[in-house]
Amino acid sequence: MLSYRHSFHAGNFADVLKHIVLIQILEHLSKKDKPICCIDTHAGPGEYQLNSEFALKNKEFENGIGQLWQLDNPPDSVASYINVLKHFNPDGILNRYPGSPLIIKHFLRNRDRVFLHELHSTEIDLLNTVIGNDRQIKIAHSDGLKNAISLLPPLQHRGMVLIDPSYEIKSDYQLVVDTLIQMHKRFTTGTYALWYPVVNRSRNLKMEKAIKASNLKNVQLFELGITVDSLEHGMTASGMIVINPPWTLATQMQETLPWLAQKLGIDGSEQYRIETLISE
Ligand SMILES: C[S@@+](CC[C@H](N)C(=O)[O-])C[C@H]1O[C@@H](n2cnc3c(N)ncnc32)[C@H](O)[C@@H]1O
Repeated sequence: MLSYRHSFHAGNFADVLKHIVLIQILEHLSKKDKPICCIDTHAGPGEYQLNSEFALKNKEFENGIGQLWQLDNPPDSVASYINVLKHFNPDGILNRYPGSPLIIKHFLRNRDRVFLHELHSTEIDLLNTVIGNDRQIKIAHSDGLKNAISLLPPLQHRGMVLIDPSYEIKSDYQLVVDTLIQMHKRFTTGTYALWYPVVNRSRNLKMEKAIKASNLKNVQLFELGITVDSLEHGMTASGMIVINPPWTLATQMQETLPWLAQKLGIDGSEQYRIETLISE
């Protein structure tokens, strides 16, 4: 049974990196005047209210978007992210935090298509309400990992897949790699963005080893930590593994990640990784 609710974590340091990378990919794909297909395997409720009792329980957004919202001269990728948030908070008070579905919807052009998946019965109702009736967006109350494979390759032959699981079950670390490999076989030129948490580093190292041993090509890893690895402090870092990233992404992250690590690191800790897991 699913118990995870992302509303408790909205806008935290993990969302900051995840949504910055997502926006960079969407901006890049939207540059060409050709339609794209976006698949979100784990959509969540679509948006979050930072003044809700969920978000206020642990106030995770305070060491996330809360630290960055008002800062001058952020790196370009952070400025793009904050501009998207400003669109949803036109009065300048940050309360409405868009989840991946709303961010994707924000970038949609006329001929683009989106497939959103969510399994949780409460979250799917919220997602349907937030997204509303939109001829370009199909919402499925189904297993995103299974369903996304059957959607590939997309008719548009261009696009991205966002994989953002909650990793409630340990085997998810292997399942996402197996699924990525299957997806990639069907749609080799697609961009894939896989989010991961660092709670127990050995699980991440195993996941990275499995990716390196695969036939995937052009795989980069971007990770932001707020403190050193520890088995006692829950999630200490999180990252995005991107297959076929925009060619500009690594350069942007060289500027972005040290800046984020300095702003969000706890007690002066500045933790980040930028690595090519598999070259082109
Ligand atoms: C980390 S949250 C997603 C957050 C969202 N991507 C965002 O950026 O706002 C993960 C979501 O995946 C849902 N979920 C878990 N397993 C799933 C599956 N196999 N297929 C679809 N949704 C799933 C959970 O109910 C949860 O809402």
